[in-house]
Amino acid sequence: MALLEVNNLVTEFHGRAGVARALDHVSFTLEAGKVLGIVGESGSGKSVTAFSLMNLVDAPGRIAGGEIRFKGEDLQRATARRWSKLRGDRIAMVFQDPMMSLNPVMKIGDQLRETVSIHQRLRGKMLDDKVCEALRRVGIPAPEERMRAYPHELSGGMRQRVAIANAMINDPDLIIADEPTTALDVTIQAQILFEMKNLARDSGTALIWISHDISVVKDLADEICVMYAGRIIERGPVDEIIAQPLHPYTKGLIDSLPQASSRGQRLYSIPGSAPPLLSLPPGCAFAPRCSRRNATCDTIPPVVAVGTREHRCFYPLGTL
Ligand SMILES: Nc1ncnc2c1ncn2[C@@H]1O[C@H](COP(=O)(O)OP(=O)(O)OP(=O)(O)O)[C@@H](O)[C@H]1O
Ligand SMILES: [Mg+2]
Repeated sequence: MALLEVNNLVTEFHGRAGVARALDHVSFTLEAGKVLGIVGESGSGKSVTAFSLMNLVDAPGRIAGGEIRFKGEDLQRATARRWSKLRGDRIAMVFQDPMMSLNPVMKIGDQLRETVSIHQRLRGKMLDDKVCEALRRVGIPAPEERMRAYPHELSGGMRQRVAIANAMINDPDLIIADEPTTALDVTIQAQILFEMKNLARDSGTALIWISHDISVVKDLADEICVMYAGRIIERGPVDEIIAQPLHPYTKGLIDSLPQASSRGQRLYSIPGSAPPLLSLPPGCAFAPRCSRRNATCDTIPPVVAVGTREHRCFYPLGTL
């Protein structure tokens, strides 16, 4: 049984101007200890995916359809009490903004101690050692001292590392990390990615790593989902997708990576911009920006499975 199974998830926001379908039949599975990357431009639905999985979508948004199964359990039937057990212990999230993960009026050490002691019977020195170790793992120097600091006394990068330590500390089954390293410098980012990968390997924790940057997830993820306007337009093993993208949008993302063009040349960028959710084209949402489009693209492309991979394009690139 897969650790996480998401089937045809639909999340919508209801407003005066209409219904914005932020997730449109999103499906993927994740096995224990594996890393799934979710990539796509701003507004493609990455954070809404994370919030939907954590049952944190608030009005005017709601999950309007589909199914989320975690170790076989239907999460949409989970009670508030069940969620308080699941969150922080079995499923943890690191938010795009570290202050969404941290309590501003609580010392760092107290927050991490609390995360542990809600779910485990550790006290005193053993508890402190565990907290120190967690802070050390994400590259926080002098953790004993940092434990006495409040979040506002730390830099943004340091706060995000604390949030990551807080997510990792109970060795959950799943960590959902929403662009957590975007604000960090590359050395720290590499260190954190390395630690997360070790965690996945050693303790069987599965990771969902969200980024707008495919190059961040390429060394970390086993599989990736590429999102565009609320739909997964391509999914599969990361190496295969990078080597041979099937969807023209995925190819555009890969071609915009710095190493894809030679030094001194202008970076490629996909022409145009993503359509607003309230005025999506009738068919493929990428069609207006796509050089391969055709009249067929005015209908929504179905999910096509090709071996280990899936795409939603009538005219995929190359053949497998
Ligand atoms: N509370 C909300 N009310 C209305 N629409 C929302 C709300 N939250 C998100 N959306 C819409 O859902 C879509 C997806 O947003 P989401 O935050 O998931 O994008 P994202 O891929 O995480 O982008 P970014 O890279 O900028 O973080 C956007 O078009 C956004 O306008
Ligand atoms: Mg986001």
